[in-house]
Amino acid sequence: MSKKDTFYVTTPIYYPSDRLHIGHAYTTTAADAISRYKKLRGFDTMFLTGSDEHGQKIERKAAEAETEPQQYVDKIVATFIDLWQELGIEYDQFIRTTDENHQQVVQEIFKKLYEQGDIYLDKYEGWYCTPCESYWQERQVSEEEVCPDCGRPLEWVAEESYFFKMSKYAKPLLDHIKNNPDFIQPESRRNEMINFIEEGLDDLSVSRTTFDWGITCPIDEDHVIYVWIDALSNYITAMGYLTDEDKFKHYWPADIHLVGKDILRFHTIIWPAILMALDLPLPKQVFGHGWLLTETGKMSKSVGNVVDPLELIADFGRDAIRYFLLREVQFGADGTYSTEALIQRINSDLANDLGNLLNRTVSMVEQYFSGVVPSPGEELEIDRELKDLARETREKLAAEIEELHFTTALEELWQFVRRCNKYIDETQPWILGRDEDKKDRLGTILYNLLAGLRQIAIMLKPFLVDAPGELGAQLGARQEIKKADWEDLTNWQGLRSGSKVYKGEPLFPRVDMEEYFAQKEEEEQKKEKNSRESSGEQEDIEEDEEGVNLISFADFKKMELKVARILKAEHISGSDNLLKLKVDLGQEKRQLVAGIAQHYAEEELTGKNIVMVANLEPAEIFGVKSQGMLLAAEDEDGSLAIIQPDSKVEPGSIIS
Ligand code: MSP
Repeated sequence: MSKKDTFYVTTPIYYPSDRLHIGHAYTTTAADAISRYKKLRGFDTMFLTGSDEHGQKIERKAAEAETEPQQYVDKIVATFIDLWQELGIEYDQFIRTTDENHQQVVQEIFKKLYEQGDIYLDKYEGWYCTPCESYWQERQVSEEEVCPDCGRPLEWVAEESYFFKMSKYAKPLLDHIKNNPDFIQPESRRNEMINFIEEGLDDLSVSRTTFDWGITCPIDEDHVIYVWIDALSNYITAMGYLTDEDKFKHYWPADIHLVGKDILRFHTIIWPAILMALDLPLPKQVFGHGWLLTETGKMSKSVGNVVDPLELIADFGRDAIRYFLLREVQFGADGTYSTEALIQRINSDLANDLGNLLNRTVSMVEQYFSGVVPSPGEELEIDRELKDLARETREKLAAEIEELHFTTALEELWQFVRRCNKYIDETQPWILGRDEDKKDRLGTILYNLLAGLRQIAIMLKPFLVDAPGELGAQLGARQEIKKADWEDLTNWQGLRSGSKVYKGEPLFPRVDMEEYFAQKEEEEQKKEKNSRESSGEQEDIEEDEEGVNLISFADFKKMELKVARILKAEHISGSDNLLKLKVDLGQEKRQLVAGIAQHYAEEELTGKNIVMVANLEPAEIFGVKSQGMLLAAEDEDGSLAIIQPDSKVEPGSIIS
């Protein structure tokens, strides 16, 4: 098969995060849509996704969970795979960086680069952000000594490291980006990258000696290969680089790497430089999309604002979620998720526009033709217009989706849906239905509506998973729609006259917003009550003879106590005793609300080391978010003292 028949798209490989959110589902849904579209167009499509499982963070988390890193990641990756299944993600291959083949090929890549002089041993000294696994130069770090990307405190490290000669590739890379305007998209992000490279590229530290959970450096057992060579190489190791040359030649270079804007730099600078050093062609395009935010900012576990996609799928169905992700936010820009906006989309676009069209059409075919698809008769101007619009929609939709403009692609399609609804209002079939002589004309109109719905079902196939088949079933053509490809759109009369329609359940039931939120609130309260009751029962059972509450060791181990350093204390206006504390927790900063204002002045708290419960569910107190709890002792006279470690320990230290 020739190369032009293939289409290879990737998502980033995800860190095994124990809390999946719809931000994670966002890129993958977009990749799924483009990949399904290319499949419909007859391409030999390869859609790759996977998991990025090495690094210090995972090693630490596994240790905290008292398990081996491999077991830890196995469990989490299973939840990823489950989510993709629930969301109807049709990937062709799933790569894990712990796969034996990947690890071996990464070692070979490292060795090759070392042997040809592109990797050398030196000493690294500078700032390091553990959560981002990124090194920073002094000139990039402000006085606050926090990570320029995530804002968390940096660590100063000095260690021996292997370096990749990035600087050598700055010029060819810049030339490539300038000569290939499509290489980095969207345009605005392309300029950002050009500016970054023009400021000069430093050689890149590509190995670590401070942790073990990574691929061993093939030339030096004291080092593990640092995350970016390991992670980025997945795009070629999965395609058989150095192991299956036929497959590799067939799919590489990738057509599109889809990535979030936070990792665009790695994909448009480090990755192409590595590929140049390996003498391999570069991917045709890297597309950096924006973030899906919530009203309280970027989703993050520590802020407590993550939206669980599985819960949304259970409440609204996967197609509604997929539609929302692709329709609501212009791909490339940042966008805000809210359940209100999701419900509005479901009601207006899916239940109203599309659902009503289907429902009205099928009902009329049942009423006037006993459910049998009529034969189309003579075509009038208004019918031709509808047909022409279907063709235009197909062409525009294709052009938009090729550019990854999912929002406008769906907007185009919905214009057609609305046009079909208007066609009903204009042709007034219920009036024709009263007159036996007009039956032919009525049949033509209803046939056109069914034909329009068939077109819609096929055009929806890149975006939605269940709805096209269900729509097809109501048109009496489930199998045909399932099998249909893009070419079938050229045939307006693809639906067989004489077959039977079937009036099923509404495709997308309307959601009553107030009722939904009231029900959620009730569920929440029930959950809280149950957990209070079950912990109360526990207390009853486990009180000893003197009435002292006992908890099991296992329960105690669930609590995460850590040392934190107070960076800033501020009185919460309107309250007597509450302070808002900004604290440094080693790898991150948090905000706590503490009832200690009557005992401590704000200034005397700054710099104090405190003990905090770090895994307490976030709460809002006096309108202020609190992400943990400070521990203090209070005697019967009401004197209060903060609990502090009795000598200096670093913020983030675990208390056990
Ligand atoms: N492991 C690296 C990628 C290595 S690729 C060789 C990584 N993983 S991640 O799990 O942190 O992020 C994966 C992707 O999810 C990134 O593209 C990131 O931008 C995206 N998103 C994470 N949160 C997001 C939102 N809230 N909104 C949109 N995308 C988000 O980075």
